[in-house]
Amino acid sequence: MLLLPGDGIGPEVTAQARRVLEAVAQSAELALEIEAGLIGGAAIDAQGAPLDDATVARARQCRGVLLGAVGGPKWDALPVESRPERGLLRIRRELGLYANLRPAVVFPALAEASTLRPEVVRDIDLLVVRELTGGIYFGEPRGRALVSGRREARNTMVYDEVEIARIAHVAFAAARRRGRSVTHVHKANVLEVSQLWVEVVNEVAREYEDVTLQHQLVDSCAMLLLSDPGRFDVIVTGNLFGDILSDEAAMLTGSLGMLPSASLGAGGVGLYEPVHGSAPDIAGQDIANPLAAILSVAMLFEHSFEQADCARRIHDAVTAVLDDGHRTRDLLPVEAASRALGSKAMTDRVLEKLGC
Ligand code: IPM
Ligand code: MG
Repeated sequence: MLLLPGDGIGPEVTAQARRVLEAVAQSAELALEIEAGLIGGAAIDAQGAPLDDATVARARQCRGVLLGAVGGPKWDALPVESRPERGLLRIRRELGLYANLRPAVVFPALAEASTLRPEVVRDIDLLVVRELTGGIYFGEPRGRALVSGRREARNTMVYDEVEIARIAHVAFAAARRRGRSVTHVHKANVLEVSQLWVEVVNEVAREYEDVTLQHQLVDSCAMLLLSDPGRFDVIVTGNLFGDILSDEAAMLTGSLGMLPSASLGAGGVGLYEPVHGSAPDIAGQDIANPLAAILSVAMLFEHSFEQADCARRIHDAVTAVLDDGHRTRDLLPVEAASRALGSKAMTDRVLEKLGC
């Protein structure tokens, strides 16, 4: 296991997640070796780059990488190619982690925490399958230029059929284990790239006749996520649309502080990270919600250690803690903030429920 805490609240939430990881591994009699490394702004400060080759090499040797978050105002002025986020993009790419799974589930106790009415969000149980190593994030050519005295900037959205087919397979296979429905999200009324996605996703769908497939334009999908989120099971889409829609889906569930993610690929290593980001404004105060990082540990047990039981135990413990009424600050209305638990205290409750 490699732990990459990163920046902002990354170190504090991964420290709490590590307690759960160690406790559950011990109770399942799994031998676990945990090393730590640097990524993002922390790596820039220590080594001059957001991710060094040695850390990539160590990650390749591991079954799983648990990552906190990267970025913060301290490094905002850096050019795009040397920002903390580059470290994250590089590790995804170097490890070939093309499939990003972002489940958005409403914990019953939190239905009231959503900005939408409880009856709208109650049935949310969806999985965003986001393509993670292609598209406009990585396409060439890219960059800035001065053209006839004007500043110009360019990025390229490009996908080939192999990249599309393999992420479509991940989505259909996941749907088979869930609600047997896939929604492919695209902008095929404008983009050739999306037209190719529609074609290839249709081809892959023939191998999964027990799964229903719908194609949905990204703008109307953004709308449907607000009006009728319960209709979605698995959403499959490219890198940029997936980035945006997964934040929207996350927020529907009450707090970005609850959402875990897994990034998987053809190689043996998986990367697990909370979706919430580095939240520098609340860093270092022991108030961040550790549950997304803890639920990322559950995903690690499921996907990298093939210990679905351990994953279920963590999930159940989190549900029970919330059912008991425990909340971090992000899950409470401002006027109730005084009863919020800190990151460590919240994790203590989870460990109690786990019996560890
Ligand atoms: C995410 C983040 C990253 C992304 C950033 C930090 C590069 O927003 O994981 O969703 O855009 O992929
Ligand atoms: Mg994002």
